Amino acid sequence: MKTVIILSLLATVCYSKPFYQKGLFDFMLEDEGSGFDTVQVDAPLGPTCPFRCQCHLRVVQCSDIGLEQVPKNIPADTTLLDLQNNKITEIKDADFKNLKNLHALILVNNKIKSISPTAFASLTKLERLYLSKNNLKELPTNMPKSLQELRVHENMITKVKKSVFDGLNNMIVIELGTNPIESSGVEKGAFQGMKKLSYLRIADTNITSVPKENVTDLKWLILDHNHLSNANIKKKAFSKLKELQRLYISFNNLTELVGPLPKTMTDLYATNNKISKITPNILEGLENLTVVHLQHNALKGDSISGAFKGLKSLLYLDLSYNELTKLPIGLPPSISFLYFDNNKISNIPDEYFQGFKALQYLRVSHNDLKDSGVPGNAFNISTLIELDLSFNSLEKIPAVNEGLENLYLHVNKIQSELMFIIPVNTSRQRFKGILDIDVISLSPNTTI
Ligand SMILES: *[C@@H]1O[C@H](CO)[C@@H](O)[C@H](O)[C@H]1NC(C)=O
Ligand SMILES: *[C@@H]1O[C@H](CO)[C@@H](O)[C@H](O)[C@H]1NC(C)=O
Ligand SMILES: *[C@@H]1O[C@H](CO)[C@@H](O)[C@H](O)[C@H]1NC(C)=O
Ligand SMILES: *[C@@H]1O[C@H](CO)[C@@H](O)[C@H](O)[C@H]1NC(C)=O
Ligand SMILES: *[C@@H]1O[C@H](CO)[C@@H](O)[C@H](O)[C@H]1NC(C)=O
Ligand SMILES: *[C@@H]1O[C@H](CO)[C@@H](O)[C@H](O)[C@H]1NC(C)=O
Repeated sequence: MKTVIILSLLATVCYSKPFYQKGLFDFMLEDEGSGFDTVQVDAPLGPTCPFRCQCHLRVVQCSDIGLEQVPKNIPADTTLLDLQNNKITEIKDADFKNLKNLHALILVNNKIKSISPTAFASLTKLERLYLSKNNLKELPTNMPKSLQELRVHENMITKVKKSVFDGLNNMIVIELGTNPIESSGVEKGAFQGMKKLSYLRIADTNITSVPKENVTDLKWLILDHNHLSNANIKKKAFSKLKELQRLYISFNNLTELVGPLPKTMTDLYATNNKISKITPNILEGLENLTVVHLQHNALKGDSISGAFKGLKSLLYLDLSYNELTKLPIGLPPSISFLYFDNNKISNIPDEYFQGFKALQYLRVSHNDLKDSGVPGNAFNISTLIELDLSFNSLEKIPAVNEGLENLYLHVNKIQSELMFIIPVNTSRQRFKGILDIDVISLSPNTTI
């Protein structure tokens, strides 16, 4: 995959067509340009190629050669310049002065501490600037208006000033993760006017509040591993983002699920918080919400009953590692993947799963299920492919549907003649014949 992407990027550059970005996924799939060092360029060294670099058509490769400064004599028609994995400490005013055709500049993994205020100003065709893994304390100033993608993760940046982004209205991707950005470090309106901005990542920075922004085209917002708490998130912080599809807000300090969220949402990741409450109706009308991850929170009792009602596209719901004692009511019938493992559920209401029309994967392992809390046909769900009931206190093997392929029952209290038929260690092995199930796992850890 990576190779294909790199080659297609190089092809674009080599033929020197306009550097056109097809879609957000072109950006997402790239790995910080680190794949460029795998590109072998066979062309003979041209007379103007900097010492020890490789120049092929308009691509100049100077990665991994211990450079302490930007080389001189870079051909003026260069479209892609790769300087990653060197020891460059400073970007000087004149370093890139003549590179009027440069589309992509890769400076990842150097020791850059300072960048002259106008170092990038003359690069009027620059679209991608990769500065991750350096020692920058500030974002560069006077970046060209042509810029579409800026990556500066793993630096020492503490502030994001509005002025550095002024007029950069072609931005599509901004990656600011793993920087010690101060709580109030993102200046109000910093991303204002970026009508094309689709992807913004401010993860692993320890910010405590969500930047107040009107970035109306944002589709991906990634805020994982910060110190966000509900008290510091304004009510309309997310609903203003009218195109938002994916919100990642895991590993924060939330006690309630954030919202309201825009109707365009498809994926919500809010794991590893302290969420104990989902305000009723907060997810109402999210007709395209497909995937919800809420594992590793503090959801208790039936605190979430009704919360997911009416989400007609919901396919995947993960509520594992919470403190639920009851199965929530009002889950949409569209769900196909439903994970309740590692809770405290002791009983299944009669006919509870019969309302699901497409349920294929169900996990209720590591709960407090006993036979008395499991009605006879509770798990006889016609669409089910996989059922995990391991680590409970069941004594009987529950009735299941004929099409079930994988059934996990190990670490229960099952006393059955099956125990004498099935080899001791059948866990995760294919086992045909009994119940016509591919995998039936009864007891990996107990001997008969
Ligand atoms: C965030 O704070 C933790 C301590 O709470 C610290 O270890 C970590 O380095 C900080 N991260 C950043 C990017 O500053
Ligand atoms: C966002 O837009 C509204 C109205 O369009 C404006 O009142 C507000 O000041 C803007 N917010 C920021 C942070 O610029
Ligand atoms: C999380 O929030 C609590 C209050 O709800 C606060 O006392 C604590 O300091 C916060 N922790 C972090 C890491 O922000
Ligand atoms: C939901 O998805 C469909 C199909 O992609 C789209 O046409 C529709 O506008 C979306 N609804 C909202 C509220 O974004
Ligand atoms: C499972 O349910 C079906 C009807 O949906 C029924 O015909 C079948 O006998 C049940 N299986 C068991 C083992 O009870
Ligand atoms: C069961 O089999 C797996 C691999 O097939 C093995 O790693 C494991 O140690 C076995 N467990 C026991 C209790 O024998």
